[in-house]
Amino acid sequence: MYISDISSVKTNNEIDDLRGWVDTIRHHGGLLFFELRDHDSKVQIVTDKPDDFESIKNEYYVSVSGSLIKRQKENINSDEEYGDIEIELETLSVISQSKVLPFQIDDGIDVDEQIRLKHRYLDIRRNEMKNNILARSKTFKSIREAMNKLGIDEIDTPTLIKSTPEGAKDFVVPSRKSPGNFYALPQSPQMYKQLFMLSGLKNYYQIAKCYRDEDSRKDRQPEFTQLDIEIANADPQTVQKIVEKTMKYLLKSVYSIQIKTPFKRLSYQESLMLYGTDKPDLRITETITDLTNIFIDTEISFIKNSINNKGSVRGFILDKLLTRSEIDNLDKLVKEEGSAGLGWFKITDNEISGPLTKILKDNEINKIKKYNNSTVIFQAGNSTETASILDILRRKLYEKKEKDQYEFIWIDEFPYFEYENGELQPSHHPFTAPKNTKEFNNNPESATALHYDLVLNGVELGSGSQRINDPNMQTIVLSKWGLSDKEIGERFGWFIEALSYGSPQHAGFAIGIDRLIAEMVNAESIRDVIPFPKTQSGLDPLTNAPARLSEQDLLEYNIKVEWEEDE
Ligand code: AMO
Repeated sequence: MYISDISSVKTNNEIDDLRGWVDTIRHHGGLLFFELRDHDSKVQIVTDKPDDFESIKNEYYVSVSGSLIKRQKENINSDEEYGDIEIELETLSVISQSKVLPFQIDDGIDVDEQIRLKHRYLDIRRNEMKNNILARSKTFKSIREAMNKLGIDEIDTPTLIKSTPEGAKDFVVPSRKSPGNFYALPQSPQMYKQLFMLSGLKNYYQIAKCYRDEDSRKDRQPEFTQLDIEIANADPQTVQKIVEKTMKYLLKSVYSIQIKTPFKRLSYQESLMLYGTDKPDLRITETITDLTNIFIDTEISFIKNSINNKGSVRGFILDKLLTRSEIDNLDKLVKEEGSAGLGWFKITDNEISGPLTKILKDNEINKIKKYNNSTVIFQAGNSTETASILDILRRKLYEKKEKDQYEFIWIDEFPYFEYENGELQPSHHPFTAPKNTKEFNNNPESATALHYDLVLNGVELGSGSQRINDPNMQTIVLSKWGLSDKEIGERFGWFIEALSYGSPQHAGFAIGIDRLIAEMVNAESIRDVIPFPKTQSGLDPLTNAPARLSEQDLLEYNIKVEWEEDE
């Protein structure tokens, strides 16, 4: 029986064949106590014949029989669900022994993650991990319920495919039957879900595994899970409403959290100006202040240069007087992020201090003095370039509010292209429709994408877009991506052809399920909500994947590996 079945047993009655793991063992005044932990709970077992049971060890899986006793008042542990009872042990049989554990099965342990991952099955025996994994199960269930309610059909897509570009490198799988050729694992089901729309399916969703060979971070895994959605005849608003309804249902049913819809919304540019990022954490209410007006005819050369070069002066007015060492720490922080330094003024009882004070003009002094008993900190320069520094400062300066606050926001009106290392690169996948085709063709630098992101508490939870449904436009976009006609034909010819037989307008979205759960259970990293994640370097310490293939296998796949000499 399970511990939860005990509620049907009366005090002093027999408990028979109660199964679980031996948790903490204690000897006290000639008595032996241990906690029996099963899949859901713990209960205390006690015996006055410790010698009869001395062979039991931690994590043995046992079956116990005995009688149910009410604990004396002073022995009741009100923190435990079954803290008011114990079982007087009569017989115990060991179902399975345990080796000495590599770490304690306890919450809040400080154990190297590598060791936890190597023994993930033990790690998941711990309540906090088990609850994370169960939150995952509840999330999947709730997603399916929400999708059913919305009448969206669950359809799956293949995972041995050609290639779906989402900005990362592909994981590839060698084909034995077609030596020298490789499948790619999908970075997302993007092109397949669009094919469904061309196939005459009204809508689609899938809880999809995606694979991206990119550096892992705390919110990135090489293998992760998306709630992937596509809707025919839809525009961004239709899709966003569906996502809002799904989030509302999910948070209520899994976490009993009521959220307000529609979510807030900002354009990419507005978000950058107010928060310094396109992933704003709205739990922090303070925003960036534009201070350019103070310095409009300044003689401070670096500020003057910035303003003359169409830049700005932006920062924060802190309603407290920072100490010199606090200012030095912020200066160090911004320098580490590539800034030339922190600009600052402190206004104490109408007196301004700070390294730039001596070169301030009278009109500047008057404007700055308005912020009496405050510290003004700022960055001068190109607004887009200073944004990331101001984002870091904002998150450093202002404490987040309470834990259980869930601030969703849509960010839209993204630029179609962005500069990377001096080159114009598309910001999103190449199936995204531009807002204005003419502008896209004539002035790509200022073109806007019909792309939208959903951000929760500063984390990019998902993204989606209106798709291109015109084969010519698709070809133009791919060539703007830098692909030659030959490359377009080889890589995407099949897809462009599919668009050529009458394609409804369609739009969609994908939510990173791991990120969503991590945010909801307050996990440090998405690794803590994925049953068997990879390490930062993409390894699985449990199975030691990835592993070498034998010479025989390599031969069959027609692959020749030249090992480094010291390997
Ligand atoms: P995108 O690439 O923005 O869009 O991915 C959507 C969401 O998936 C999550 N995500 C990840 N989670 C964990 N580890 C990763 N390596 C990782 N990469 C992405 C994020 C992200 O917001 N096909 C498009 C969607 C569409 O246009 O419909 C796509 O995949 O939460």
